[in-house]
Amino acid sequence: MDISKRAKQIQESPIRKLAAVAIETKKKGIHIYYLNIGQPDIHTPEIFYKKIKDFSENVLSYGPSDGLDELRQAIADYFSKYNITLNKNDIIITTGGSEAVSFAFTVIADPGDEIIIPEPFYTNYNGYSSISNLKIVPITTDPETGYHLPDISEFEKKITKKTKAIMICSPNNPTGTVLYEKEIRELGELVKKYNLFLIADEVYKEFTYDGEKHFSILQLKGLEDQTIVVDSISKRYSACGARIGAIISKNRVVMKSILKFAQARLCPPTLEQIGAIGAYKLPLSYFKTITAEYQKRRDILVEILTSNKEIILKKPKGAFYIMTKLPIDNSDKFAKWMLENFEIDNETVMVAPGAGFYSTPGKGTQEIRIAYVLESNKLKKAGNILLKAIEKYNSLNL
Ligand SMILES: Cc1ncc(COP(=O)(O)O)c(C=O)c1O
Repeated sequence: MDISKRAKQIQESPIRKLAAVAIETKKKGIHIYYLNIGQPDIHTPEIFYKKIKDFSENVLSYGPSDGLDELRQAIADYFSKYNITLNKNDIIITTGGSEAVSFAFTVIADPGDEIIIPEPFYTNYNGYSSISNLKIVPITTDPETGYHLPDISEFEKKITKKTKAIMICSPNNPTGTVLYEKEIRELGELVKKYNLFLIADEVYKEFTYDGEKHFSILQLKGLEDQTIVVDSISKRYSACGARIGAIISKNRVVMKSILKFAQARLCPPTLEQIGAIGAYKLPLSYFKTITAEYQKRRDILVEILTSNKEIILKKPKGAFYIMTKLPIDNSDKFAKWMLENFEIDNETVMVAPGAGFYSTPGKGTQEIRIAYVLESNKLKKAGNILLKAIEKYNSLNL
């Protein structure tokens, strides 16, 4: 008896693969600052829990496969605050943004088809491409340019008969880069020319800094049939455990097909959708203090890290991640070494090694991703431990 090729090929999460090492570190009584995972520490809004507490049905029944009408309407209303007009038929509620990515891949492409994605990218895209047997064709971006897109001709060169879509994520995980409107418009022109889909993962939409604004592909005129947005409440409302996301498109054929996949998994979680209705009704001002907090944390980390002039880091403008190139030989080795062998006052740091965010072999081996999901004082300590760890590691010539 054997398992599938798909099962053999699917990658282990680079964000979680050091988990077993971390357990051993903790057993030694060492405190770990977890900068490896994008689990926000900002409180979930009270209204989310209140709505769930007020739920008084006798039976927790199946809901509609495309999600509760009231939530779909609440999401449409929320988008209208950004001058984006949607109606609830343009929105299907998913079990997290993860399921939205999976639906998008499955609906637009057949096994062997290609999706062009700038790398480094959110590593779970690899998992979904394995499930759907798609090929991700990477376009490499670099720390030196702040991970902005290369010239549009680089995308054009990668288009083949098998290309079905270009996918972007902005604000980006893992880089924190917010794509310029110009970059997105150029991609819009390209997908129009080649009749491709443009998929955008916009789950970090609110989190932009220094006055930078997120530009949504839903703002591209004349591309309504070609654009698909992946959305989620996980980061927006610090509700990762709720497992509520959405897939958004005005393409009726796409939405009708997604609904069939959605029917096959019955429905997204009901109680969490009810909580999400409350959250989506919060005014946009709700995000003000949260973005200010993230911006403060980003600034703290950037200041600490750039005090080492050999670290390559362009201040990212969004999300809550920093991807940076360190003066070390190998970030997989370094991250593991730090957990196993380095502590200051019984404290150490866990980061995500960069290579797992690339699909080109050999890329990202000196980079790490840091999630600034700890409050300022802890972040300062963690940043300083990281700096000292780099010095020590390099002095050992391991
Ligand atoms: C860019 C990006 N897209 C999608 C997801 C998945 O989000 P969800 O928790 O809604 O499944 C994440 C989670 O970290 C993410 O960073």
